[in-house]
Amino acid sequence: MNKHEVFKSSALDHPMLETAMKSVVQGAKLLRERFQTTLTIETKGLANFVTEADLGSERLIVESIRASYPEHAIISEESHSDRADAKELWIIDPLDGTSNFMHGIPHFAVSIGFYRDGQPELGIVCNPIRDDWYIAVRGQGAWHNGVRQKVDSAERIDAAMICCGFYYDRDRMMQATLDTIGDFFRNNIHGMRRFGAAALDLCNVGCGQYGLFFEYRLHPWDFAAGQLFLQEAGGRATDCSGGKLPLDQPSSICATNGYLHRQSLEIIAPHWTRYTAG
Ligand code: IPD
Ligand code: CA
Ligand code: CA
Repeated sequence: MNKHEVFKSSALDHPMLETAMKSVVQGAKLLRERFQTTLTIETKGLANFVTEADLGSERLIVESIRASYPEHAIISEESHSDRADAKELWIIDPLDGTSNFMHGIPHFAVSIGFYRDGQPELGIVCNPIRDDWYIAVRGQGAWHNGVRQKVDSAERIDAAMICCGFYYDRDRMMQATLDTIGDFFRNNIHGMRRFGAAALDLCNVGCGQYGLFFEYRLHPWDFAAGQLFLQEAGGRATDCSGGKLPLDQPSSICATNGYLHRQSLEIIAPHWTRYTAG
């Protein structure tokens, strides 16, 4: 299914949808062309990299949004950090899953969220290799390649497949994540997956594949689009204390089908509390 069919079949309507789609298409095309080619890579921190593909995708996306909405604010991972409380705000991850991209693993995405007055209105996440499109508009549902999505109906942790992410930390945060995974297994989950692109992980909770996803540190560009997709699919995303996800700083995340939220936070709580207590 090409992008225009996706767009039409989902029957979504939002004034910024066309610009958002056009911008994602440009970033996605660049990533497809640069996938499995030789890249210039820089290191941002321990095991945290930025490639020329991240930068190239971001440049095209920002130019495209600026051309239509020069007055809107932009937060994007590699270069723009306007105010998160701006009236109209675009939040961009030009390549979510850089490590996968660098290692030739075809699981990564472009992610764009549009917020008005701090509320998510529109979210698009696209895996360019699979031509997989996840689109959500507030009040109009969550759509995967033109098909409306709904979260998994599991009401107990022991009926769920779960997913997690590891931030770049190799110290206490990593240990807290591993300890939490152990406790989920002790609660008899069906299994645990770690795919390496948080924007897609959130959409996959929305599509009912995982009952929940958690990670102890994400940035707003990782979840800006995915949290709306999940919400529109009937799920819920909070930080690991049950609070609202902030747009102006990194945060932990617990994203579930809704039914499993309380139970998931209970399993996470001792590890998260111990970690944050220092
Ligand atoms: C990363 C991915 C990964 C998650 C990291 C993120 P990036 O984003 O979403 O799954 O575990 O915390 O930083 O750096 O590839 O855009
Ligand atoms: Ca990311
Ligand atoms: Ca990124």
